[in-house]
Amino acid sequence: MSSELSLISRPDQWDISEKDFPKNEGITRKLRFIINYAILAPSSHNSQPWLFKIVNSMIELHADMTRAIPIVDPEDRELIISCGAALFNLRLALRRFGYTSAVDLFPNPGVPDLLARVRIGENVVEAEDEHYLLFEAITKRHTNRMPFEKKKVPEEVLSELRAMAAVEGCWLNIVEGEDYRNALADLIAEGDHIQGANRQFRRELAAWVHPNRTRSHDGMPGYSLGMGDIASYAGPLIIRTFDWGKGQAAKDRQLAAGSPVLAVLGSDAETPAAWLKTGQALERVLLRAQAANVSASYLNQPIEVPDLRTRVHDLLKRNGYPQLILRMGYGHEPKPTPRRPVSEVLL
Ligand SMILES: Cc1cc2nc3c(=O)[nH]c(=O)nc-3n(C[C@H](O)[C@H](O)[C@H](O)COP(=O)(O)O)c2cc1C
Repeated sequence: MSSELSLISRPDQWDISEKDFPKNEGITRKLRFIINYAILAPSSHNSQPWLFKIVNSMIELHADMTRAIPIVDPEDRELIISCGAALFNLRLALRRFGYTSAVDLFPNPGVPDLLARVRIGENVVEAEDEHYLLFEAITKRHTNRMPFEKKKVPEEVLSELRAMAAVEGCWLNIVEGEDYRNALADLIAEGDHIQGANRQFRRELAAWVHPNRTRSHDGMPGYSLGMGDIASYAGPLIIRTFDWGKGQAAKDRQLAAGSPVLAVLGSDAETPAAWLKTGQALERVLLRAQAANVSASYLNQPIEVPDLRTRVHDLLKRNGYPQLILRMGYGHEPKPTPRRPVSEVLL
């Protein structure tokens, strides 16, 4: 990464500290503070498609459908997974500050955009070691799209990651063996070819990519995709205009085949509730990985193309629905991406 990138200031929302928890104030101020951690969750194209409403001692999570990404995500599957990741951070931060919570998913069938209602318990309970471990990873987790070091991730960490997905009702399938890995890498490359050739896909993606010095509070600054300042000005135009599928396919095949860990996160059902669970499982896995200094990034292309998704499913030889493809390993900490402040996501 070029040194000029260090001149770009770090987005403010990441500088939150638990020391600032307003312990002597009322519940509304406390819950508002806790939402600062929910908004640091990952989201598709950094669209941050979430809204929160504090109602007495309850927090509602709503989908912000104005942030849908309909070409790549026509069913809003990734949109709901993203909200699930924010929901996990919310549950975790509540627990870190001593609140138990009970979550009802889709509590009102007549209002499908109301994704969850989080009821806060009355008693304050001390957090356990695992809550601290995961909580501290919230502000350190960033998607890392650079190649990883050629260093193995220990088996104990991998079993922890599988367990994290299972606790949230999902599964994490680590893709092992050269043939199996190469077969998945080929499907990823095929996905790149198809998406890169699709003008509508390119236009949609380009609209979420911004120059490095952007003031925008959402989307992906060029630096998060490995672009220097000058290249980042031309980035959206290039993404929109040219069929870059072939070049991207070669790059991603190499990343997929060469990363220490290649894994598929999946669910047992294909419903909005299962997608919300997947998002919670995703964030739990990512935070546990980060706690072991393992970073992750995504290679979801073949899951976003329906025919290829069937082939990913067949390759896994297991029941269920592949939802996301992750690669993981060790690398340098990337610069954080922007977030909308809490004031912009409160209803
Ligand atoms: C459901 C979901 C799908 C994603 N898909 C991709 C993807 O296909 N490719 C990619 O590079 N990043 C993907 N991302 C990562 C987001 O772009 C990233 O979370 C966002 O830009 C914010 O950056 P951060 O994770 O560093 O905070 C995905 C994230 C989520 C939650």
